Amino acid sequence: MHSSETLPANQGYPRNQWYVAAFSYEVGANLLARTFLDVPVVMYRTPDGGPVALHDKCAHKGLPLSMGKLCGTSVQCGYHGIEFGPDGACTKIPQQSSIPSAMRVRSFPLVEKWQWIWIWMGDPAKADPGLIPDHDSLGLGRTGYTSAPFFMIEMELNFQLMHENFLDQTHVTYLHPGALDDGEMVSAQYWTKVDGNIVQLGRELSNVSASAGVAGFFGIEPDRPYDRIHIAETHVPAVNIGRNSYFDRSKPGSPPIELFGINTLTPRNRHSVYNFLALSNSFGHQWSAAEVEGLRQVVLQDKVALEAVQQRFNQFGSDSSECSLKSDHAGMACRRMISAMIEAERTGSMGSVAIPAKTEALSA
Ligand code: FES
Ligand SMILES: [Fe+2]
Repeated sequence: MHSSETLPANQGYPRNQWYVAAFSYEVGANLLARTFLDVPVVMYRTPDGGPVALHDKCAHKGLPLSMGKLCGTSVQCGYHGIEFGPDGACTKIPQQSSIPSAMRVRSFPLVEKWQWIWIWMGDPAKADPGLIPDHDSLGLGRTGYTSAPFFMIEMELNFQLMHENFLDQTHVTYLHPGALDDGEMVSAQYWTKVDGNIVQLGRELSNVSASAGVAGFFGIEPDRPYDRIHIAETHVPAVNIGRNSYFDRSKPGSPPIELFGINTLTPRNRHSVYNFLALSNSFGHQWSAAEVEGLRQVVLQDKVALEAVQQRFNQFGSDSSECSLKSDHAGMACRRMISAMIEAERTGSMGSVAIPAKTEALSA
């Protein structure tokens, strides 16, 4: 039994964290409106290319600034024409020459890294870019790897449900049949590891082969024996990476063939999330439009299933219950870590999230 506050479908979110706001290609000389952590934000690029994020609510009478237009580096409100610059300060009031000090909107720290734009919705004084997950580790922009941004899908569910989805890849056998494995993932040996804000669940599959469709996606030859390692890794609270490594059994010691799926999650609110997908591979593959569409269909399978789960939690509220498996350990560690981050922010003890480093070897 849960209180409604601890339901995964009603999880809150830490604010003093970096989240992905957009792919770089989405933000240009237009006004892009999104909501992050319940706060409406408008984004655009100045003529020199710098991305800007402002509170999407005019300081005058509250019209969303995204309903206005860009004027040089400023956004002009569509109601009475007041303009605000990239730092949120008012740059022009058409009706008077004096600018009241309160005539400003909040601007949010942004960092453009690889092909993401990261946003900090919390205390700007704490917005250390060094806290953004290392992109080379994620395979994004890594030498010798081919990486690409794909698409964002908005899902009507709590971001915690998606984290737990990524951390339990046994679902691929049933929810995405024939797309990401040939049915062997569900029975593989696995281990879990928690280190700092990183949760991992690794599965090691010895002497497996792949059907043509699965092999093509992972850059290996079909119907040939490989050893496969799959690591689901969550950088709490914003990033999931699925690390797939295939070792050719006929070439001992050769480097693995790798494909990484990087999904970032940014809560829109407690019941809606933006899921951004990027991929990276070690075999020089550039994805075709048909492959990207195929991936979109896979992610939509997650969306349909988890929106239905969210609906059940909504329906049963505090009467909702779950019966966890041993393999849910990683997802539960992620859940506890997010709760601890929220509690640390609430009590002002930021930085002292006490999640012990832990490695477990388990048999499936
Ligand atoms: S509401 Fe924006 S200028 Fe009046
Ligand atoms: Fe999935």
